[in-house]
Amino acid sequence: MAQKKNNEEEKLTRLNKFISNAGVTARRKADELIFTGRVTVNMQTVTEPGTKVNPEKDVVKVDGEKVKPQSEFIYVVLFKPRGYVTTTHDEKGRPTVMDLIGLNTRLYPIGRLDYDTDGVLLLTNDGEFSNMMMHPRHKVFKTYFAKLDKPIEEPDMKKLREGIIIDGRPTSRAKVRIIPNTADQNIWISIHEGRNRQVRRMLETLGYIVQRLKRVEYARIGLDGLKPGEWRYLSEEELANARKLATPKQPVFRKPESEGAPPADKKGKKGGKKKKKKDKKKKEQLADSPPQPASDSDVLESISKELENISEQIQDTKE
Ligand code: URA
Repeated sequence: MAQKKNNEEEKLTRLNKFISNAGVTARRKADELIFTGRVTVNMQTVTEPGTKVNPEKDVVKVDGEKVKPQSEFIYVVLFKPRGYVTTTHDEKGRPTVMDLIGLNTRLYPIGRLDYDTDGVLLLTNDGEFSNMMMHPRHKVFKTYFAKLDKPIEEPDMKKLREGIIIDGRPTSRAKVRIIPNTADQNIWISIHEGRNRQVRRMLETLGYIVQRLKRVEYARIGLDGLKPGEWRYLSEEELANARKLATPKQPVFRKPESEGAPPADKKGKKGGKKKKKKDKKKKEQLADSPPQPASDSDVLESISKELENISEQIQDTKE
């Protein structure tokens, strides 16, 4: 009984804190809202900011609008250093990225980075978000800096862009750029699939050895000044933007008839040959259109923040 009471008490939070944590307004403004009688708790007006509420049970309203408690989900970006594995536990006893986070909440990496790759690693406890970021259907791009053993040839860049056969099937189109003002063996490559050691294998297939691989962005989320081993929470803007990037521009699956899709026209008026031809044309057009990021300047702009870091690292590898 006493234990239950303690648990209940732990959940209580001050009304002003609850309102500001929910993102309605800053703490001071929340006080004002409360003082001026604009806040109700379970239909009763409350004018004392320190009133304790239980976010799971109490209904708090500001000007009649229900305040939604802050999400339980956590989203972080970690600068994964080389020499760490991207699993929650390693049988060989090597250090894992989890050793670097130190939060009580259990988080899971969104995809993997090899032991010897460093850079952006997103982690969350939100399975839906994780799926959105990883599922190939959503085409969320990841950008890597790669230092090769020799300058890259233009025809090979073309091949990378068009797709390389690995595991017996072609990779999706990639964005590739030589990093300006550095040797031709330093490139940026953006892909949206997540096959095992994909970037290394794509380049190895063309006869290059990747000497250094760093992920500089995932869904346009970069490291922004983090040092190896450091992490930070994602901002609301980064999250919203990542979700937007993952939102398909048009439905991919047609609903089955039982879920409301119009029945197919057997005589071919709507669902017949004409439509099939149109669909085929549409598909071809889609296949021809470039993947996100939509343009080279997009790629350049979104990763330019990282250029400074990268140049330093290139310098390091030279020394
Ligand atoms: N591609 C690779 O080859 N390695 C990684 O860690 C990520 C992508």
